[in-house]
Amino acid sequence: MVSDAAQILVASNRGPVSYELNEDGELDARRGGGGLVSGLSAIGSDAQSLWVCAALGDGDREAVRRGVGEPGVRMLDIDAAVHADAYNGIANSVLWFVHHMLYQTPLEPAFGREFRRQWGAYRLYNRAFAEALAAEAADDAVVLVQDYHLALVPGMLRELRPDLRIGHFSHTPWAPPEYFAMLPGDIAEELLLGMLGADRLGFLTKRWLRAFQSCATAVLAPYDGTSLWPKDNEPSFEFRIPGRGRHRTRLGVHGLGADADFLRERAARPDVDERMAALRAQAGEGRRTIVRVDRTELSKNILRGLQAYQELLEEHPEWRERVVHIALAYPSRQDLEVYRHYTAEVSRLADEINARYGTAGWTPVVVHVKDDFARSLAAYRMADVALVNPIRDGMNLVAKEVPVVTDLGCALVLSREAGAHEELGDDAITVNPYDVSGTAAALHEALTMSADERAERSKRLAAAATALPPRQWFLDQLQALREEG
Ligand code: G6P
Repeated sequence: MVSDAAQILVASNRGPVSYELNEDGELDARRGGGGLVSGLSAIGSDAQSLWVCAALGDGDREAVRRGVGEPGVRMLDIDAAVHADAYNGIANSVLWFVHHMLYQTPLEPAFGREFRRQWGAYRLYNRAFAEALAAEAADDAVVLVQDYHLALVPGMLRELRPDLRIGHFSHTPWAPPEYFAMLPGDIAEELLLGMLGADRLGFLTKRWLRAFQSCATAVLAPYDGTSLWPKDNEPSFEFRIPGRGRHRTRLGVHGLGADADFLRERAARPDVDERMAALRAQAGEGRRTIVRVDRTELSKNILRGLQAYQELLEEHPEWRERVVHIALAYPSRQDLEVYRHYTAEVSRLADEINARYGTAGWTPVVVHVKDDFARSLAAYRMADVALVNPIRDGMNLVAKEVPVVTDLGCALVLSREAGAHEELGDDAITVNPYDVSGTAAALHEALTMSADERAERSKRLAAAATALPPRQWFLDQLQALREEG
């Protein structure tokens, strides 16, 4: 290997930095936020570590061409059409939909020739990552591959570099076997064998890990796929590779938590105070607030959240003029028609509620769509109630962040289908995300909770939410991989 080869490598589709071409033709760098970036940032930026990611837009591609970059980050300039098929076609429209159970059968999915063509691009894109990692890694280095975008990388990388210790982490839920079985059999097999090329697979909750095991046991029966549950150790999955004997992959749970130090420091800055004053002025002095903060993402269930709020105003007219729903809904994946449509529906329904119930001095729903982290933190701080009602979610960091920064205590209405529910369920008000009336009742319960109880529960929620800070989450995985024989 080359002398400055990396000892620790991370691979993810979206990297920690992105570039935009400004009007003068210069490149502006933007550092990403969020739990994934802060957790993986524990990799450090010394010469021993490397973060491999994809160039995502024109700015990123231009940066690669000009040789602009940050130390410790390598962007791959994968052919734009290949990337689009892999990212929009397979990762976001198939794998994301399968794991979040988002398909609206009988219209979709239809896995035909177009899907097969896109799957070919997904293979190429995964191969580009595997080849870059193989070229950059020192002997016996540790490689941590992230998410459904890169499911085939572990198997491909093992072929190229059997000396490496390879981990893969899923930041999403994992589909139950009956739903996973929608995928064509050969594709399901390729996907699972690709991931199982890793020494160790990480999941956010026990539930997603078990679902993975069930899928692997069902699909890999011809390979004698077997789940093992040793008493004192992590579970694992073993299968036979034709002509090569058995391979064992360990499976672990790492429930990524909120970064309390970072959030508290950031939430106390003046720009957050300013945003809070502006939101307070919009909501109206003295009114209660129900806050939600999400990417406008189908799985986040924003429409049913608005319907539930509408039912609250119908069932409990005493709340009219006394409560405001602040919905921060940041557009996401706008290359996909179904996301554009959903985004439009969210604003249509919010407008409808405002037209129907609003008065001269009261706007029932306040929507903001411009992604603004300071405003998100301001909304967290002032929320009386946080509504987190996803249909399905790997973890959901909003549920974990609100109790950490709340000023006076906040009641959490939380979907039982969010991974975070495994850790926060005891002090949240649990909802079935499809049950609109049940969610309306939960909002009423949250609004009527006493201030003392809200504060008490928030304290306990914050303790649970910060049990595994991002840095520790990363280091634990590194440690577990290094302990592999
Ligand atoms: C969420 C999910 C991650 C995923 C990311 C991709 O944060 O929890 O599992 O990697 O979305 O988002 P993007 O905007 O890159 O499609």
